[in-house]
Amino acid sequence: MNYPSQIRSWEQYQSAYHKSVEDPEGFWAGIADEFNWHRKWDKVLDWNFSEPGVKWFSGARLNITENCLDRHLAAEGDRPAIIWEPNDPSEDSRVLTYKELHAKVCQFAHVLKNNGVRKGDRICIYMPMVPELAIAVLACARLGAIHSVVFGGFSAQSIADRIQDAQCSLVITADGAYRGNKEIPLKAVIDDALVHCPSVGKVIVLSRTRVPISMIKGRDTWWEEETRKVEAQGNPPCPAESMDAEDMLFILYTSGSTGKPKGVVHTCAGYMVYTNYSFVNVFQYRPGEIYFCTADIGWITGHSYIVYGPLSAGATSVRFEGIPTWPDAGRFWDLVDKHKVNILYTAPTAIRSLIGFGLDPVSNKDLSSLRVLGTVGEPINEEAWHWYDEHIGKGRCPIVDTWWQTETGGILISNMAGVTPAKPSYATLPLPGVQPLLVDERGEEITGNGVSGNLCIKFPWPSIIRTTYGDHDRCRQTYFATYKNLYFTGDGALRDEKGNYRITGRVDDVLNVSGHRIGTAEVENAINMHTGVVESAVVGYPHDIKGQGIYAFVIFSGNRSDADGIRKAIAATVTRIIGAIARPDKIQLVGGLPKTRSGKIMRRILRKIAEGETQNLGDTTTLLDPAVVEEIKKGKL
Ligand code: WT7
Repeated sequence: MNYPSQIRSWEQYQSAYHKSVEDPEGFWAGIADEFNWHRKWDKVLDWNFSEPGVKWFSGARLNITENCLDRHLAAEGDRPAIIWEPNDPSEDSRVLTYKELHAKVCQFAHVLKNNGVRKGDRICIYMPMVPELAIAVLACARLGAIHSVVFGGFSAQSIADRIQDAQCSLVITADGAYRGNKEIPLKAVIDDALVHCPSVGKVIVLSRTRVPISMIKGRDTWWEEETRKVEAQGNPPCPAESMDAEDMLFILYTSGSTGKPKGVVHTCAGYMVYTNYSFVNVFQYRPGEIYFCTADIGWITGHSYIVYGPLSAGATSVRFEGIPTWPDAGRFWDLVDKHKVNILYTAPTAIRSLIGFGLDPVSNKDLSSLRVLGTVGEPINEEAWHWYDEHIGKGRCPIVDTWWQTETGGILISNMAGVTPAKPSYATLPLPGVQPLLVDERGEEITGNGVSGNLCIKFPWPSIIRTTYGDHDRCRQTYFATYKNLYFTGDGALRDEKGNYRITGRVDDVLNVSGHRIGTAEVENAINMHTGVVESAVVGYPHDIKGQGIYAFVIFSGNRSDADGIRKAIAATVTRIIGAIARPDKIQLVGGLPKTRSGKIMRRILRKIAEGETQNLGDTTTLLDPAVVEEIKKGKL
């Protein structure tokens, strides 16, 4: 494949950016022309940010899987699409060419059809990072079923909430998953979740760990048996469902400042165009290169830059089932060496955790294949940036710092590898089509350079969130109501003298723990479910590896003599309700929480204390009972 809309120079970037602002419809129509459509659009863009209502490529018809698979078959069908690396290095890796992946997706789409799946049905996917996860995702898209992938670290309760919210009719899972030296009993977790989910009639189970599991008659069936049935039918072809440009492609749940995660909805055409465009431009992918994104498909990074972006570009990508530190902290570098990876895309938290192991795990690995490095998920501190640059890129690989969100579908602010300049800890400049601005508290635009404020976007890009599933008003409230006619990101940012953006972190009650988004209200709700807990307040604090750690202040009414036991039990409750990713790092049992006279918790004070600041707590004059603060300061962990 060649990439006609790949930008190759600073001048081209400037002219593309200019055109994207002056004539957005012409700009995106030119890019969309590169794809295969059943029918072209009547209108490129219709939009308002007040409802909100955003439609890209209205009237067009397509299927994203034809653009990710079928269109590569004739010329590049034998090129590897997926190089899969298992958790355990002694197990063989697997390679799937585009032809093989296409065949497996068609076959599994028939499995889904045989199990009653039709266009528009919602399908929950809870699987390990094996090739079958991508196959399941693409098979849904082939039929026009809406996938809702849930990360393998979420609890039964979290899965049940997500399944019920979307009214999923079928679940695709595996018996278990391997992660480092741990085995995760995926099917047992699903069984617990499904006790509360009457909408689910079928469960398809892939065998991976071969742990004994229960298989419920009439409901549960094996992936392998189902695919054998399709083989017995002679593996019939599977024409792709013709989808409207604005039909839903998937739902992905993410946390916000309320206690309830919301289902972010992305639609077919705009998402396809933007993930492809951003992939080829940010990473400057060249035909034949090996690309490795270390994320899990359970997060948006995996959806956009493991599945849809790279496959629509005909790229070859490495997918890894395991973790960076098992069997030792050299695993990523072993994979780079073994598969001759050219582009590596990972998270600052992974880099920081590997820095802690020193240079031994890196020193004897051949990393000379690397050409481009990338980071995503959280601000990267300068120390981690320089370590990545020096010890992994050997000072010769551009680093792209990619800022985006589940809601944006694709990378919005980033340098383009080797084409636009990098600046450590800066995401730098917007991609063509993206119009960021900074506003103050009142929503007034802050113009000029060398300023900071709240980051908003003033014009739609093709992969912008369309709605929150089942509750459109929530989408309006959360993203489009804070500032009139603007999409509000929830992030704070500063803009340097040259117009480069540096994202400084969330300005709402959302934490970023190891690149995972966690709402403080969600964690508080889980803690408050624990017996004896009267009230709690959760804040973030700086954590060397995770970026932010979770600090919980908890009023506990029962016998407090075994404080350690109580803390462990509360942590276990959070793990049970949400999942281990939301487990507080610190739990301090307190007699009271700092409140204003009107009963509002003064989180600002708690944040300071959690950060280790005990002297300068800012304005405390509205505090109802100053003694509470003194007690908390004394008990600080
Ligand atoms: C939040 C979105 C985007 C995929 C992974 C996370 C933070 C993301 C960066 C970056 C600074 C970043 C923001 C954003 N974030 N990338 N390069 N520099 N901060 O997706 O779970 O939707 O979280 O992650 O705070 O709002 P997500």
